[in-house]
Amino acid sequence: MKTIGVLTSGGDAPGMNAAIRAVVRKASKMEMEVIGVARGYAGLIQGDFRRLDSGSVADTIHRGGTILLTARSEEFRTEAGRARALENARREGMEGLIVIGGGGSFRGALHLHKKGLPVIGIPATIDNDIPGTDYAIGFDTALNTAVEAINKIRDTATSHERIFIIEVMGRDSGQLALAAGLAGGAETILIPEMPIDYDEVVRRLEQGRRRGKLHSIIVVAEGAASGLEVGQEIARRTKLESRVTILGHIQRGGIPTAFDRILASRLGARAVELLAQGVSGRMVGMQANRIVDIPLEEVLQGEKGIEEEVYQLANDLAL
Ligand code: F6P
Repeated sequence: MKTIGVLTSGGDAPGMNAAIRAVVRKASKMEMEVIGVARGYAGLIQGDFRRLDSGSVADTIHRGGTILLTARSEEFRTEAGRARALENARREGMEGLIVIGGGGSFRGALHLHKKGLPVIGIPATIDNDIPGTDYAIGFDTALNTAVEAINKIRDTATSHERIFIIEVMGRDSGQLALAAGLAGGAETILIPEMPIDYDEVVRRLEQGRRRGKLHSIIVVAEGAASGLEVGQEIARRTKLESRVTILGHIQRGGIPTAFDRILASRLGARAVELLAQGVSGRMVGMQANRIVDIPLEEVLQGEKGIEEEVYQLANDLAL
């Protein structure tokens, strides 16, 4: 294999640049050319390509976002769009493609693999909702951003003896909320994987107050409920006032943590090795600190789910 492509797709995640860098540098060591595709699958359809050499990824390991830009392409969901993308890849001489992104991006990757373009996926999403890997690139950075925000909110919450509701990202997944809630000492964590029991939310608030807690912190994943809804429901049931902070896209940006950079470097390099060995249709991931690869089909059929004992632990320790 002489020429491979690389793209980032879907929501960006801190550490994507470290993964692109690893792909480019590893490929260049193996004497392969790398074509960077701009804006994910949209760029593949439009033929928006740029040659990447070792120098083009200099000074990027510590940068958030993605130097290749990213997009969620509607056109790539159509047969015509996918056919054009494939045609462009072939015309450009791409013999393999590395897709850095989340579940939606891997559906596209699997399609290209089935049409005969060798593809390897690298998991990158702050949601950390991809089965087959303990961690996706970007999760650790987003988690640290959320925890830092909780620390700051805790100061003002204590001073005013207030209830704070902090809404974190996670449309379909409570991974980020659970980890941020546990690390941030939240007394209640609301996630899409568990039904919301407002009686229990109120009971925990009252229990905290009885034992002299000066503040209450509730972390809610956007996919479970909006922070405002939670605040309104608490007010309706208790007449207690609360404040809501929505962390939003702040969680998607920022300097990637060392953990994310190391993960991205290991996964990026392994993805290149696999393509060079003629492997396709698989995702690289990390399980128990070892780099593994599993079929994309399995990834897409699976569900990550949350670890219930971690959820229980967070509940037990917070009060
Ligand atoms: O998938 C990552 C994610 O950040 C989700 O947590 C969030 O719901 C979604 O992307 C937001 O997407 P967009 O940036 O397109 O609004």
